[in-house]
Amino acid sequence: MHIAMVSAECAPIAKAGGLGDFVQGLARELTRIGERVEVILPAYDVLRFDGLDRPRPLGIELQVPFAGEVIQCRVLGLSLDGYECRLIAPRSGHGFFERGRIYGEPDDAERFVFFSRALVEYVSRPESRPDVLHCNDWQTGLVPVLLAERRATLGRIPVCYSLHNVGYQGWVEAGLLAAVGLDPARLLTPERLADPSDPRRANLMKGGIAAADAVNTVSPRHAWELRHTEQGMGLQSWLQRYDYKFGGILNGIDDAVWNPLTDPLIPAHFGPETLPHKAIDRHALRGHLGLEDAADRPIVAIVSRLDRQKGVELIAHGIHSALSAGAQVVLLGHAIEPAIAERFERLKSALDPNPHAHLELGYDESLSHLIYAGADMILIPSLYEPCGLTQLIAMRYGTVPIARRVGGLADTLQDANYSAAPFEQRNGYLFDEPTGEALNSALDRAIALWRDHPSYFSQLRLNGMRGDYSWRRPAREYLALYAYAREARVRRD
Ligand code: ADP
Ligand code: GLC
Repeated sequence: MHIAMVSAECAPIAKAGGLGDFVQGLARELTRIGERVEVILPAYDVLRFDGLDRPRPLGIELQVPFAGEVIQCRVLGLSLDGYECRLIAPRSGHGFFERGRIYGEPDDAERFVFFSRALVEYVSRPESRPDVLHCNDWQTGLVPVLLAERRATLGRIPVCYSLHNVGYQGWVEAGLLAAVGLDPARLLTPERLADPSDPRRANLMKGGIAAADAVNTVSPRHAWELRHTEQGMGLQSWLQRYDYKFGGILNGIDDAVWNPLTDPLIPAHFGPETLPHKAIDRHALRGHLGLEDAADRPIVAIVSRLDRQKGVELIAHGIHSALSAGAQVVLLGHAIEPAIAERFERLKSALDPNPHAHLELGYDESLSHLIYAGADMILIPSLYEPCGLTQLIAMRYGTVPIARRVGGLADTLQDANYSAAPFEQRNGYLFDEPTGEALNSALDRAIALWRDHPSYFSQLRLNGMRGDYSWRRPAREYLALYAYAREARVRRD
């Protein structure tokens, strides 16, 4: 099957968070099992090609109608681990993808609506024509809508739509629909794109859900949360009408990228049989960040986007609690919102210099690997978490998650004390309420086990390391979803 995956991110060339890991991991696994995968991205100026071939022009020119102009785009191609990557590069015009970053621009809505329109032009070319199109998040939510509107020529391409973050739905002015040739008067209805809280605005994610043949989010628990709780962020009751085509598929992680036995970014390799070697990485992490080599203190890490979703207040609280409980703390975090960035800058200055705490404010892929390998625990107090990959990555590196019982965190973690699962499946600590006290109760249990019963704590690490979080099972589930979308499309036509 020829699968085209469309997204704003794909690691390692364009990653801002878990969406990039998702596209890379799923594309690699589908390729490994014999499918043809084409990943299509905007040609951002910040693409990272370290160690990869440079992209080449494919000789395909797209004429993309946008806001009364026709913007010409080139299509560039490169091969990433056996799958094809296509980059859509506007020749002139608005500098949509020359902003020095992937997201966070005031005109993000225009940028990705333009990309969606260009993409439809590309998949209609004989060079592409996929058997199924897999769209992701609000940035490509308009693609199923555009395809449905062009049904006579292109409407036969079945579309799957994956929701990774319903906190960002792509709320746009109606005029932007007209810019890509859509009729706002016809589309801004409660069934389709009208936003439930302000029906004059278009909601791209909502439109994508309505128009796609199959829709999923990235864990079963979050699928339930989206339909039945406030985590649906305004879409909950409306989503229930799509129960027939909506579900949850838990993410995997790429076990070639995240493997402590082979990871080139960590000084000492280790696995379940050689867990004591993790101490070398712990020592290296402390040395790298200037922390004291304190054998009586565990390292509690946080690796996260600093966004409300991630529970920024709870993260700040957790840093203080861990320090008072006698742990060391390492935070690697990047904020887009200026108020959150300033809040953590202030916290950093208040803590500096401190032999037991290091806050690294920014995005640093290689430091993240050293932290997963060197830390003892990772704190993930998210307010909502569709899947979460950091708990899965941490577990592979023998680092024990302490997390809120939401979304994919609840689906992948079994509490060390309170789970009904057998001990060999317990792999972390969970808390329910989004409060400092609830967080402390889980953190204190983890630190106490580390301090008083180190061999039990090592067993928890090993339980996590032995879990299977690979893409093998989820890739099969996506193939089944694609088959469902193809059948649904045949039935509809
Ligand atoms: P989300 O996609 O919501 O940010 P996930 O847990 O799904 O959360 O995925 C986060 C991914 O981004 C992981 O690969 C994690 O290691 C990485 N990451 C998050 N913050 C940083 C950072 N500041 N520097 C480097 N990598 C980061
Ligand atoms: C989103 C979610 C995260 C998920 C990732 C990949 O960014 O916040 O929970 O793991 O997408 O699906």
